[in-house]
Amino acid sequence: TKCIGILTSGGDCPGLNAAIRGVAKSAMHHGIKVLGVMDGFRGLVENRFVHLEDAQVSGILTLGGTLLGTSRDKPHKMPMGDQVLDMTEVAVANAKAQQIDCLVCLGGNGTQKNALRMQKAGLNVLTLPKTIDNDVAETDVSFGFDTAMNIATDAIDRLHTTATSHHRVIVCELMGHKAGWLALGAGVAGGADVVLIPEIPYDLNIVAEHLIERRKHNKRFSIIAVAEGAVSKAEATQSEEQREKKKQAKKKVAERKHKPGEPHLVQESLDSRIARELQQLTGLEARTTSLGHVQRGGSPSARDRLLCTLLGTTAGRLLAEGHYNKMVAVRGTQAVPVPLEKVAGVIKTVPRDHGWLEAAMLVETCLGDR
Ligand code: F6P
Repeated sequence: TKCIGILTSGGDCPGLNAAIRGVAKSAMHHGIKVLGVMDGFRGLVENRFVHLEDAQVSGILTLGGTLLGTSRDKPHKMPMGDQVLDMTEVAVANAKAQQIDCLVCLGGNGTQKNALRMQKAGLNVLTLPKTIDNDVAETDVSFGFDTAMNIATDAIDRLHTTATSHHRVIVCELMGHKAGWLALGAGVAGGADVVLIPEIPYDLNIVAEHLIERRKHNKRFSIIAVAEGAVSKAEATQSEEQREKKKQAKKKVAERKHKPGEPHLVQESLDSRIARELQQLTGLEARTTSLGHVQRGGSPSARDRLLCTLLGTTAGRLLAEGHYNKMVAVRGTQAVPVPLEKVAGVIKTVPRDHGWLEAAMLVETCLGDR
């Protein structure tokens, strides 16, 4: 019999269990043996496999997180004791020792790259696009994004209560890595007055003008949805070298050992900095909220459950047909295989002509730019 291994890797994400269920049930339907690999690529290197039976993948559709566990460990740069080693060959050998014909990897951009590495090292792979960031290339959408966007939209709705009652500016920081999908989607859906995303470097003077203008028109509250990867115009014009220098300096502050009696050096967060600068520029009272991992928590939305079931069951069929080394992508209402080489290493950002941007501008949402 054919045998597959399933692993989940990178950040946890709503829909992982639904996708595991879809792949496993469909594979079992086609007579394929299913192994689960614990904790992503680390489990593969450490030989941690579990045999998944039908009962184990039943009743998990609605559960958040991943029953297999996950990690951000990469096979080619694996911390092992106090060393960081290239464990790619060990990972491939372990999979082959279990007689795995294909490794199914559920993950975002990092996972797509790691899966391609495994493919190049001689292991068949098949991947699914998972991430709340929606930044995986070659697919209309990745699973987890819809749920996260719903959570973030609900949070923006709730922030309106305090913003309107206290006549405040509230800066809400959203995830999304280097892409603005989540902040833009939730920002537009939640009626944010300002949306700042990495694709459009912002100028806080323009944002401040917008806030003052709103006040003049008797709109006494403003919500700002800011993507964690958003950069100012000044930052955007910095060279790669300058940015790297800044990143290293930040890292140094974060890793610095605190000596007794010394003041604590804490890096100012993006939302705090934006709120502070806008308060200075406008004189308006500002507050911050950073949603963090709440955005990835809990049960997947109906749309994500459907998506995971479509992607997972399509993967099962492709596995039965011996279709390997692809990512199962969404195109309209269909799930289709695309070569992994076209996906790995590409980040899908929001294009400047995207309809959501135009819609945002037409409802007078400030994008921090002119
Ligand atoms: O890729 C998903 C994501 O939640 C990003 O939006 C965010 O930048 C990152 O993961 C956070 O990583 P961690 O879970 O390691 O804090």
